[in-house]
Amino acid sequence: KKTTLPIIIGNWKLNGTKNKLNSFFKFIKDKSLKIKKNLTILALPNIYLNYAQELVSKLNINCKISAQNIDIHKQGPYTGETSVNMLSDINIKYTIIGHAERRYYHSENNDIIAKKFILSKQKGIIPILCLGENQLEKDCGKTEEIILSQLNAIASIDKQNKTIFNNSIIAYEPIWSIGSKKSADPDLIQQLHTFIKNYVIKFQNFNIDNFYIIYGGSVNEENVNEFLNKKNVDGCLIGNASLNKKIFNNILVKS
Ligand code: G3P
Repeated sequence: KKTTLPIIIGNWKLNGTKNKLNSFFKFIKDKSLKIKKNLTILALPNIYLNYAQELVSKLNINCKISAQNIDIHKQGPYTGETSVNMLSDINIKYTIIGHAERRYYHSENNDIIAKKFILSKQKGIIPILCLGENQLEKDCGKTEEIILSQLNAIASIDKQNKTIFNNSIIAYEPIWSIGSKKSADPDLIQQLHTFIKNYVIKFQNFNIDNFYIIYGGSVNEENVNEFLNKKNVDGCLIGNASLNKKIFNNILVKS
């Protein structure tokens, strides 16, 4: 079954309480989610995944629940981690992989991220792979080079697998725009999304299916449609603005 666009993903990062989830879902159920046919996803801290999953099913809400990270191991002596097997055990179907904050605060490099990408694919969990350049790389004109190295890391982990990007979502999130209130220029986003898409089309020899590219970085209710109106922008990944139920609801209504 094909996803109905746009894909709107809220990433709560290290925020939230059970109370906040209750009032958030109640609010958007009454307002927007009842009528929405597109794909809405909320990425939550692990400790709330099960609670939120039960809540959306109880309230019959059209919203999927995603993790924000997985461990590189499936099980074993790795204190404090959560594995892809465990996500699957509680029926979680999505996980963010390689968010800039994981790369920065937890030293996750392209190789680690590629392994996590493969792990989630093997378990049938859809990875939401984040990539993008930092301010310095942008200033040096290296944006495409950086994106290319991030894509190559995935493509080269299993060279025989020419459908590796199918059933995945790539989020182009320029690091300088995360939480900065400076979003990227919509035309530039379109250009870079097209660059990513062409890479995948070429690598997979046109065998591309259930593959989407979304934009993240200071998206809000005012600017969301500037991005969604662009070609090859299949949705948005939203941090700060997803924490406020009224703002997130407005984004859903507008998109
Ligand atoms: O994952 C979403 C994100 O990093 C963007 O955050 O606060 O700029 O929307 P924000």
